[in-house]
Amino acid sequence: MTTTGSPQSLMATLPGHYYTDPAIFSLEQSRIFEEQWFCAVRCDDLDKPGAFRTVQIGRESVLIARGRDGAINAFLNICRHRGARLCTEEKGEVRRSFQCPYHAWTYGLDGKLIAAPNLNDMPDIDRTEFGLNRLHVREWLGYAWVCLAEDPPSFDDTVVSDVTARLGDAGAINSYDITALKLGKRIEYDVKANWKQIIENFMECYHCATIHPELTEVLPEFADGFAAQYYVGHGAEFGEDVQGFTVDGSEGLERLPGVTEDQDRRYYAITVRPQVFINLVPDHVIFHRMFPVAPDRTLIECDWLYLPEVVESGRDLSRSVELFDRVNRQDFDACERCQLAMDSRGYSKGGVFVPSEHHIAEFHDWAREQIGEGSGGE
Ligand code: FES
Ligand code: FE
Repeated sequence: MTTTGSPQSLMATLPGHYYTDPAIFSLEQSRIFEEQWFCAVRCDDLDKPGAFRTVQIGRESVLIARGRDGAINAFLNICRHRGARLCTEEKGEVRRSFQCPYHAWTYGLDGKLIAAPNLNDMPDIDRTEFGLNRLHVREWLGYAWVCLAEDPPSFDDTVVSDVTARLGDAGAINSYDITALKLGKRIEYDVKANWKQIIENFMECYHCATIHPELTEVLPEFADGFAAQYYVGHGAEFGEDVQGFTVDGSEGLERLPGVTEDQDRRYYAITVRPQVFINLVPDHVIFHRMFPVAPDRTLIECDWLYLPEVVESGRDLSRSVELFDRVNRQDFDACERCQLAMDSRGYSKGGVFVPSEHHIAEFHDWAREQIGEGSGGE
């Protein structure tokens, strides 16, 4: 196995103001969340033409809707006439169009302007020109990923390569066939912490022995402090007596059909920059999407995905959901505890990484580079 860490010495973390400074957060919004591929919605949540969701990506509200042809489209959630917010609901369904509540301009599900009061009296209005601002969309792993940039980065060189780099094999993710899975449970968390705090926590396991008693029972190697993410291609092995990835180690559900012998009885964790975590276990997948809304606040939607027949059977999923729900709450409590101190003079120069956390420094370099600092910046 290959480590992604570096030599055995202590290294400095980011200084505290990186987690609180509105100017830094604003740069992160414009240069990271509004420039890169952002995992916005589960495609199944848009279950029919006209179904829509609104999400915040960087500073923008984005409207994502399924069109009459079945395709998923994304638009800036703003009327082209005088800029009114088109949809204020988080989710809903329209029959065939979106109508602005201000002067009733009406847009098709594909974003085209299809009607406006007295439009025929305005010969200089070209309705093809005044459709909604359309955004780039890519469907992968059963999610719609949206990019606000006019010229998006390569999806394969960013999103897909993060997954491949972590698993050490481009095909390994396919064993879980995440697109075909169904939502068994979704829990939303409102975390009073900076989004980087949450990524850093997810990447390390130095905290596992202290705050995750249930998880370390199931994955005993986590008690040693080395996260599965520290090693390329490594999945943490279930404890000998553990039957499934459940809160008490009791039996889980049937194995996903594509999961290989190598992947069986193992847990893999992947961070897909900038805002996704994927957790793979033999019988389900736990998929987190983060929505950073303020320097010190991040909304998280966490999906537990199972085989369709398992969800349809109404079987009890609570023991498998409860394990990672507890892990999430333990992690987010820890992140909030750190966030409270980020403005302290005691953290103005940051803290230190112990060796098992060194791979987080690479994330810090990346985050600083994105906002024009560090080796790759101006
Ligand atoms: Fe939307 Fe006028 S602002 S129709
Ligand atoms: Fe944790």
